[in-house]
Amino acid sequence: MKTEIFVRLSDVSKKYDRTGVETLALQHVSFEARAGEMVLLLGPSGSGKTTFLTILAGLQKPSEGEVTIFGQNVLDYSPKDLQKLRAQHIGFIFQTFYLLDSLSVIENIMLVMKFAGISKTEANQRARIFLEKFGISHLTNAYPKTLSQGEKQRVAVARALANGANLILADEPTGSLSTLQGMTIVQYLKDAVMNDGRCAVIASHDERIRPFADRVLTLRDGVLV
Ligand SMILES: Nc1ncnc2c1ncn2[C@@H]1O[C@H](COP(=O)(O)OP(=O)(O)OP(=O)(O)O)[C@@H](O)[C@H]1O
Ligand SMILES: [Mg+2]
Repeated sequence: MKTEIFVRLSDVSKKYDRTGVETLALQHVSFEARAGEMVLLLGPSGSGKTTFLTILAGLQKPSEGEVTIFGQNVLDYSPKDLQKLRAQHIGFIFQTFYLLDSLSVIENIMLVMKFAGISKTEANQRARIFLEKFGISHLTNAYPKTLSQGEKQRVAVARALANGANLILADEPTGSLSTLQGMTIVQYLKDAVMNDGRCAVIASHDERIRPFADRVLTLRDGVLV
């Protein structure tokens, strides 16, 4: 039996228009990722990695081509349905973390689970398990502004995994971390993929992640090589 395809891009191109200057951020990219797979997407700055991941997550639409998430063509989805699909099935680790400053660390992690319909008690328990795993339980009630970059990054990863999402999309998840901290997180993503049949797509410059990946792809000037 063929393993389930979680996400697929078919001949996707993305053009940005910034004050009259066009950038072709992705050019005719086709890609698919399956259950139980960890894919590493390498590429220099500006090669289109973040664009690739945000399109995979349905966070923005391609200029051309099709995006299928869990067998559904997301271009047909209403914004509300897309938000629901993301809350329940996709964990996104943003390059800039996107933690809410007005919420504590545990509240940040619990909020995403609330959107996914997980009860408060369950969300609280899960959040604590991840904080413990990532060695940041002393920061449970701290506010994001008081955290180091590496600590914020670990909160962002905990938040992405805690809702049980099948598809984990991670944008530079190790950028601010030491080798030990960074590889601990990658190993954790790897375990989530191998043990729970999830799928992770990691965009990074970080060559240290290579040994963990089942597949390594490279983007160059928006082209998958
Ligand atoms: N919202 C936007 N409007 C206009 N141009 C954009 C926008 N977002 C990205 N770009 C351009 O698209 C190209 C690809 O950007 P992208 O952020 O996907 O690259 P990246 O590989 O993630 O880079 P980095 O490694 O620095 O994070 C770049 O030339 C960038 O300037
Ligand atoms: Mg980027």
